[in-house]
Amino acid sequence: MSHSRLTLPTPFTIRAVQTDNYRTKTFVLDGALEAVPGQFVMAWLPRFDEKPFSLVNADPITLMITDVGPFSHLVHQLQPDDRLWLRGPFGHGFTLDPAHRHLALVGGGYGVAPLLWLARTAPNAQCTVIVGARTAADLLYLDRFAALAAQSPHLEIIATTEDASHGVPGRVTDALAPRVAAGEVDALYACGPHGMLAALQTLAATHHLPCQLSWEAYMRCGIGICGACEHDGRVLCLDGPVLAYAA
Ligand SMILES: Cc1cc2nc3c(=O)[nH]c(=O)nc-3n(C[C@H](O)[C@H](O)[C@H](O)COP(=O)(O)OP(=O)(O)OC[C@H]3O[C@@H](n4cnc5c(N)ncnc54)[C@H](O)[C@@H]3O)c2cc1C
Ligand code: FES
Repeated sequence: MSHSRLTLPTPFTIRAVQTDNYRTKTFVLDGALEAVPGQFVMAWLPRFDEKPFSLVNADPITLMITDVGPFSHLVHQLQPDDRLWLRGPFGHGFTLDPAHRHLALVGGGYGVAPLLWLARTAPNAQCTVIVGARTAADLLYLDRFAALAAQSPHLEIIATTEDASHGVPGRVTDALAPRVAAGEVDALYACGPHGMLAALQTLAATHHLPCQLSWEAYMRCGIGICGACEHDGRVLCLDGPVLAYAA
């Protein structure tokens, strides 16, 4: 059964745990949600805490979780057959415009989480996927994008690392800017840390490029009440996390 919107934390059983890098794991759960790429769920561990995570996939529910603090560290201890409680899906995800023929999908760190699903929903557009991280060890999902590219001639994958240990040396903007300047990109979709998104927003505005950016914020309620996720006068759990900017 596929759930449309879970308003209360609902238990799911972990079916598989995959190790992505030294601090990131992907959890596949035993259920499905009606959702679109870019939407997120609130994951809850009873008597501990609740945190937002992008959906990597909705059927089966799949989450990629990087161990950065107390909650994510505890989730990393979970094994197949353990339970994780979810509310959601919440927020606005990415929207594709069929008029845009060449898309740039840019992910920084665990920001790549919703982009694999987005790439799968755009099989007829030319997609340039740029995956960025500080070092080669921090890069995520290159193998999954490569597997998708093997089935899709429209998908190009570029990795960037700030320490030049893999792919294009520098930041995602270093790989993207020349393509945007050459008029090779019709629309930009991105998810990652604030600094990266701010740089992409400036690049897109300079070149009159429509963009959709998935912003991070601290979230508590997930439903527009508490104000924890305010960003530029909007609440990201409801109005975002994906905000669209016209050309
Ligand atoms: C819409 C949305 C989708 C997300 N998707 C994912 C995902 O797919 N995978 C994933 O691993 N994480 C994702 N996150 C981030 C995740 O919710 C946080 O990393 C979470 O706080 C981890 O909890 P923690 O207790 O382990 O660490 P915390 O103690 O909460 O945080 C550890 C460190 O990370 C910093 N930090 C944590 N959250 C944020 C934030 N929102 N903005 C800025 N700095 C922060 C803190 O300052 C601290 O230094 C998402 C966040 C949002 C809002
Ligand atoms: S998390 Fe409460 S308003 Fe967004």
